[in-house]
Amino acid sequence: MRINFGELVIGDTAKRYLHRVVDKNWASEGDNVKEFEEKFAAKFGYKHAIATSSGTDADIVSCAVLYDFGAKRGDEIVVPALCFVACVNSILAAGFTPKFVDIELETLNIDPSKIEAAITDRTKAIMVVHTMGKPCEMDTILEVAKKYDLRVIEDACEAHGATYKGKVVGTIGDMGTFSFYTAHQIVCGEGGMVVTNDDEIAGVVRSIKSHGRPPGSIYFDFQRIGYNSKMNDLEAALGLEGIEQFEENFNKRKNNLYKLLELTGELSDYFYFIKEENYEKVSPHAFPLVLKDEKYDRDRLYNYLESKDIQCKTLFGSLPTQHKAFKFLGYNKGQFPVAEYVGESGLHFGMHQYISDDDLVYISDSLREYFKNHEISQDYTRK
Ligand SMILES: Cc1ncc(COP(=O)(O)O)c(C=O)c1O
Repeated sequence: MRINFGELVIGDTAKRYLHRVVDKNWASEGDNVKEFEEKFAAKFGYKHAIATSSGTDADIVSCAVLYDFGAKRGDEIVVPALCFVACVNSILAAGFTPKFVDIELETLNIDPSKIEAAITDRTKAIMVVHTMGKPCEMDTILEVAKKYDLRVIEDACEAHGATYKGKVVGTIGDMGTFSFYTAHQIVCGEGGMVVTNDDEIAGVVRSIKSHGRPPGSIYFDFQRIGYNSKMNDLEAALGLEGIEQFEENFNKRKNNLYKLLELTGELSDYFYFIKEENYEKVSPHAFPLVLKDEKYDRDRLYNYLESKDIQCKTLFGSLPTQHKAFKFLGYNKGQFPVAEYVGESGLHFGMHQYISDDDLVYISDSLREYFKNHEISQDYTRK
């Protein structure tokens, strides 16, 4: 059986909420979305939670909020060079220019010591990404933001429930975003959320995700540029079950992560893995692995794991310098050495609640076999 990156199992709670859709003959944004927003906010302690159609839309809407606070089209938003592509696409889709900053090898997150050098007169915000559920170094980031009067958007799409120095991610900065795509810690199929503790920002988010209307209105009074970024009640039905099961799933994922780390402990010479510090709680999104030496050949390892039916993904890559889509921004290879190294030597695979103890032993045995035999040349490419 293939070990997938993520899985969705639809249980009784979700079915009950799906029946609500059937009974009401209403599948657009409605009672399920409202309840999902309220329960998400209450669960994690946010003042406002506003559902969107995806994590990508949550990012786009968060960026577009900046126009209400003086930003102009073409202004800049700082973002890590390595993260899921939606962050950069969102900045561009909202009409801003991404300014890239390299990441740290140990955390896979934006290197806070390099942010200041990327700030110009046109910078309006820093979008940090809590990659793989590991919180960014928020103290330093907030200090820099304060010094240059910048807003902070926390992309927490991979970090539901993660904490940094006792604070849950999402509202340490001005706004936070979440994704509920399959494989994430709460799954709606598709869906996202913007969270904030700021009443004014919340009103603007509600307006932008519904075509720029005044919050709550469905009439044709457009106050700002907006989008249709609304979640629907079918998606929210699944999310409501995800909230109910959050602790159980979170703990299962975390146990899986710890167990695999234990099982692969003797392989620590071969790859880096993110650590959990005592002042934080990492939210287990997936199992990222960065080779310590390129000679272990990431592409070969990727093909090997896939040949063992362990679904793998690479680790995003340096968006400005390793992906054709962003060539037009004019960056050159070598500008983001850490992101580029991780882009060439990193991969990640699933660490979700449906991965069993036997699967973990199978994964660790497979990794052990690969590294112990790396000198033996064998072609794992799919024929
Ligand atoms: C860091 C990050 N941001 C944004 C997104 C986009 O979320 P979605 O797929 O729901 O659009 C993802 C999705 O995996 C992500 O990992």
